[in-house]
Amino acid sequence: MPLVRRLLERPGVPPHEAERLLAVATGRSRRDLTAEGEIGVREAERYFELVERRRAGVPLQHLEGTVQFGPIELSSDGRALVPRPETERLWEEAVAALGDAGPGTVIVDLCTGSGNLALALKHRFPSARVFATDRSSEALELAEENAGALGLDVTFLQGDLFAPLPGELYERVDLLVANPPYVAESEFDELPVEVRDHDPRRALVAGPRGDEILERIARDAYWWMATGGWLFCEIGETQSQRALELFGVYLDVEVRLDLARRPRILVGRKGGRCCV
Ligand SMILES: C[S@@+](CC[C@H](N)C(=O)[O-])C[C@H]1O[C@@H](n2cnc3c(N)ncnc32)[C@H](O)[C@@H]1O
Repeated sequence: MPLVRRLLERPGVPPHEAERLLAVATGRSRRDLTAEGEIGVREAERYFELVERRRAGVPLQHLEGTVQFGPIELSSDGRALVPRPETERLWEEAVAALGDAGPGTVIVDLCTGSGNLALALKHRFPSARVFATDRSSEALELAEENAGALGLDVTFLQGDLFAPLPGELYERVDLLVANPPYVAESEFDELPVEVRDHDPRRALVAGPRGDEILERIARDAYWWMATGGWLFCEIGETQSQRALELFGVYLDVEVRLDLARRPRILVGRKGGRCCV
């Protein structure tokens, strides 16, 4: 039996992951890796090393070094959270709500990490001015690299939530997106190894309760948003009620479901209805 087929059919690694790891090990595209093909001894060794690291919980995206997020491909490594499908859903919902954007449109992404939301929004709305903040210099380094590779002009600023934004954006933000940390300290040890040991802790944990950063975003968002502006914020699946309370003081709010039908997206609108 050809070696590629043997490796793909070996128990212990799901076939779609085996195929992706083989592509990394051989430097070939998945389409070029036919089950009837052969690979060299060095490639096979490299494949087994990758399988071991994957079994130890290293995210597939770190082994591949890239992740697809909506229409863009990003580099992914330990400097920032691996962008998730639920955040891609948030991006889709935000794009649909904003609809269109001209040169006067302002978009802000808080807690940008790898820059996934900011860059995918700039890709979709090239005329808009897009700003993104993060407290982590490592995450911003990765975000800048991603922006450079994609040729997208986003202003990345280091600092706490809204603090580094220029004052001229006050009451001017048409679309505010955020995927902030929302895990409670006590929940951290229970996270899957892949997340706990490979995503930065600062990207996940908000504080003792988990809603600390959501609370701060809710408190300040209204003052930065333009009238009619939209807010899309990712939340934990047990946080809907709390998020509605926090953001509902200032905005018209609702919680929408992610692709797995879990309540994960808080939507808010200033001076308008957020239900569509
Ligand atoms: C859950 S990750 C989200 C990353 C990215 N937006 C995504 O969707 O994959 C949260 C990010 O928030 C950043 N962060 C944590 N606290 C922050 C704060 N107070 N101000 C700004 N960024 C913060 C972390 O460094 C991390 O990059």
